[in-house]
Amino acid sequence: MIVVPVALPGRPYDVVIGRGARHELASVIGGLPGVRQAAVVTQSAVLAGGWLEDLDTKVPFEIHQLGEGEGAKSLDSVETLCAQFARSGLSRSDVVVAVGGGVVTDVAGFAAATYHRGMRYVNVATTLLGQVDAAIGGKTGVNIAEGKNLVGAFWQPSAVLCDTETLGSLPPREWRCGRGEMAKYAFLGPGKPDASLLELDIDEQVARCAAIKAAIVAADETEEGGRMVLNYGHTLGHALEAEGFDASSGRDLAHGEAVAIGLVFAALLARRLGRIDDERVELHRRVVAGFDLTSDLPAGTEPDRVVASMGRDKKARHDLTFVLDGPNGVEPVSGVGESDVVATLAEMGSPQ
Ligand code: GLY
Repeated sequence: MIVVPVALPGRPYDVVIGRGARHELASVIGGLPGVRQAAVVTQSAVLAGGWLEDLDTKVPFEIHQLGEGEGAKSLDSVETLCAQFARSGLSRSDVVVAVGGGVVTDVAGFAAATYHRGMRYVNVATTLLGQVDAAIGGKTGVNIAEGKNLVGAFWQPSAVLCDTETLGSLPPREWRCGRGEMAKYAFLGPGKPDASLLELDIDEQVARCAAIKAAIVAADETEEGGRMVLNYGHTLGHALEAEGFDASSGRDLAHGEAVAIGLVFAALLARRLGRIDDERVELHRRVVAGFDLTSDLPAGTEPDRVVASMGRDKKARHDLTFVLDGPNGVEPVSGVGESDVVATLAEMGSPQ
């Protein structure tokens, strides 16, 4: 197993990565004082994959199943979970175990943050997106009708187990979701960016991404500034998703695919602003292609709508703000002119 520490002052924890990492759960829970029972929160795909069949939590546990998709990231789900926790006599000294992808870790983490005003939880990440992003960092929360992730809390897990064996049952779309997030880490690590992430085996890839995320989170737990770089590629990515290029529209674009397009867009915009050269743009294209993702805008993209949507992005203050590569590495850049954004979208080509 590869162990990546998240060195948060006062509440450090480990991310454990490898085939069968879920079997470390008994030892993790054994190391948490006072735990008498566990609440395991999961979804049907994890149960169908058989990933809970041999789960050893060291203490008695009940399984709580969330609904499917983004719709399960709701206050209703949190209320249902907390009611079930109460009925099973879960106390503040017990533990919640989230086994699944980002929906499960976000909802179970938020329930753990609020039930009895906060209890410990462990994330067992079973999707690539969860392992390189959602399970690490302590941002928990749910959606409301007015927006995604509008209600939540910073609440760090006691440990994160990234079991790369569970990736074997992921559908192709989930792989694409994770690969797009992975691609961004090629540009966020220490030193000069390169394509070496592509050469690693899956355990090492997850570990490298987790280590980069861990360092960023440890330096800026509550997103006062530095942590914003984790949104690299997301400004256009979110705008494409908001414009209906998603599973529900029939024009299916996985989150990671949207981020991959966003990474290449961000590189072209950075070049237009004189921040990076052709070689660095080419590296973005190479990394995105190396993860089997396209950098083409989806057919039907309407630049005006996309620009308006980017203006509403949560990172925007009073002008267009992007996370861009540059001489000092990737950083937030505000005050980007709309004409540069429009010209960069045009440079990406006109999708039919
Ligand atoms: N839970 C994801 C994050 O904290 O970034």
